[in-house]
Amino acid sequence: LLPDLSAYEAEAPSNIALVKYWGKYGEQLPKNTSISYTLQNCKTETKVILKKRIEADDQFHFEVYLDGELKPAFKSKIETFLKRIEAYTPFLKSFEFEIHTKNTFPHSSGIASSASGMAALAKCFVAMEASVKPELTDEFQAQKASFLARLGSGSACRSTGGKLVVWGKHEDIEGSSSFYGIDYPYDIHSNFRDFKDSILLIDEGQKQVSSSVGHNLMHGHPFAEQRFQQADANISKLKSILSSGNFDEFFALVESEALSLHAMMMTSSPYFILMQPNTLQVIHKIWGLRKAEKVQIGFTLDAGANVHLLYPEASSARVRKFIDEELIQFCQGEKVIHDQIQF
Ligand code: PMV
Repeated sequence: LLPDLSAYEAEAPSNIALVKYWGKYGEQLPKNTSISYTLQNCKTETKVILKKRIEADDQFHFEVYLDGELKPAFKSKIETFLKRIEAYTPFLKSFEFEIHTKNTFPHSSGIASSASGMAALAKCFVAMEASVKPELTDEFQAQKASFLARLGSGSACRSTGGKLVVWGKHEDIEGSSSFYGIDYPYDIHSNFRDFKDSILLIDEGQKQVSSSVGHNLMHGHPFAEQRFQQADANISKLKSILSSGNFDEFFALVESEALSLHAMMMTSSPYFILMQPNTLQVIHKIWGLRKAEKVQIGFTLDAGANVHLLYPEASSARVRKFIDEELIQFCQGEKVIHDQIQF
């Protein structure tokens, strides 16, 4: 039995996909395999505090706090999550509880907090269960955290552990599953082990389209099937690039993935353009630098206007200068978040 007054804490990082997840079916299962780097500095820290044991009824009894402030507006998204995981966390209705959460990055920055947020919360629930079931192995707990996180936000299952994480069953990736993320099971070339991700905040406003709306627009999308096939083929290509260490091929694949994701949004019905003029300015600047100076640098995008600059440690000095001198003018409030990959 869980003690009445106890607290369970966990943290989870944000992730940035190299091959993108866009399109789902059933219980948050992906239409194609995706793979992401786990970031080091952008994180969510969450604490679940059990306040009181209660007679379970058909409701969840909880409050959500962000940075110590009560946030009633966050409840419905979390309630949807709790309902989806109810069968796997049957103890949650027997408590009144509080969820306290904070992010190390600004909430309104347009950096998806749902992946790290749902992952941290899922880890808290697994910690609750493990506290009364010592027989649960670390491996089981890690897998369950990813499984639950997936039901909160698909990409969250890539944020519960690991450095390079694959989600979605794929014949070329041993042990891969559509139900949870796995640590990339092969060696990767040293070129890709000390990567930086500098996130240029182009537009701090709210997203114009939520990712759940976006995924749904892939149903009946005229190019959906080709896109899913392309992504799965890109996983195989990336596998060989990650082992060979070829930077040019890596950036070509990762940039094509980002633009294909946006192309899906531009060709759905209704259609969306999430890039801003400054997104394109930055992309052209990156291509210009790469061509002129052969600097190892590329970009990727999420479902928004911000640009993630990816580059190895060896390019760091040149890229930091490039950001300060040429790119900062395109960032809202001159904001850039410097992050890196955990290896
Ligand atoms: O996890 P969701 O449902 O918010 O989807 C995120 C999808 C992208 O961030 C655009 C791509 C990805 O694979 O992370």
